[in-house]
Amino acid sequence: MGEAEQEFDRRARTREIQAEFAARGDALGWFDALYQEAAGDNEKIPWADLEPNRYLVAYAKKVGLKGDGQSALVIGCGLGDDARYLDDLGFKVTAFDISPTAIEWARRLHSDREITFEVMDLFEPFRGWLGAFDLVLEVYTIQPLPLEMRERTIDAVASFLAPGGELAVVTRGREDDEEPDELPWPMSRQELSRFETHGLVQKFFEVMPGDDETPQPRFVVTYKK
Ligand SMILES: C[S@@+](CC[C@H](N)C(=O)[O-])C[C@H]1O[C@@H](n2cnc3c(N)ncnc32)[C@H](O)[C@@H]1O
Repeated sequence: MGEAEQEFDRRARTREIQAEFAARGDALGWFDALYQEAAGDNEKIPWADLEPNRYLVAYAKKVGLKGDGQSALVIGCGLGDDARYLDDLGFKVTAFDISPTAIEWARRLHSDREITFEVMDLFEPFRGWLGAFDLVLEVYTIQPLPLEMRERTIDAVASFLAPGGELAVVTRGREDDEEPDELPWPMSRQELSRFETHGLVQKFFEVMPGDDETPQPRFVVTYKK
């Protein structure tokens, strides 16, 4: 099977599993089901390429992002490659995901690092994490959650930032008047502006081109609290 067919198949299967759970009124359970079904084969998971996100890397290089021991929280970290990248940059990294299977996998992949990986639901976090992190990173975790949950999701993502902290968001982007049709549902600038209701000031906004398989543009956006 060619690369393009494989990509088509894994995305079709992902949408199938998501739809099965959604039909039962469960917006979140499908993530762990997909990781479980993959049974250790990252090629079964559309977003898991065992590399740090290339838009994040481009941003970090552009601004010279450095941790110098500051704390970072990676939201919906999946297999942890972005967490590892922030560790490389000198951050003290905590990363979480709702999927126990993903977290177990990430711990195995990055056992050579002092990254704290936790199973955690974004909507029921440890209270001690609220307002606690110098950098919060969100890559592709808002976009696969239903549009009806978008405001709640944005509020939850914003809640972890310490005063003076920075939030970095990498997401598929869409125009404000564009109707998103299928999973993942890209974010619009209007939706993103909700971050600013949490005392965040936008510092960086770049539209980057998608790739051959997923051509939607990416928005890379950062905010300071
Ligand atoms: C599209 S994947 C992206 C994973 C990773 N950020 C990446 O770019 O490779 C979305 C991730 O968010 C996690 N996730 C979804 N809902 C979550 C929630 N409520 N709390 C924590 N993690 C969640 C999923 O399990 C999944 O690993």
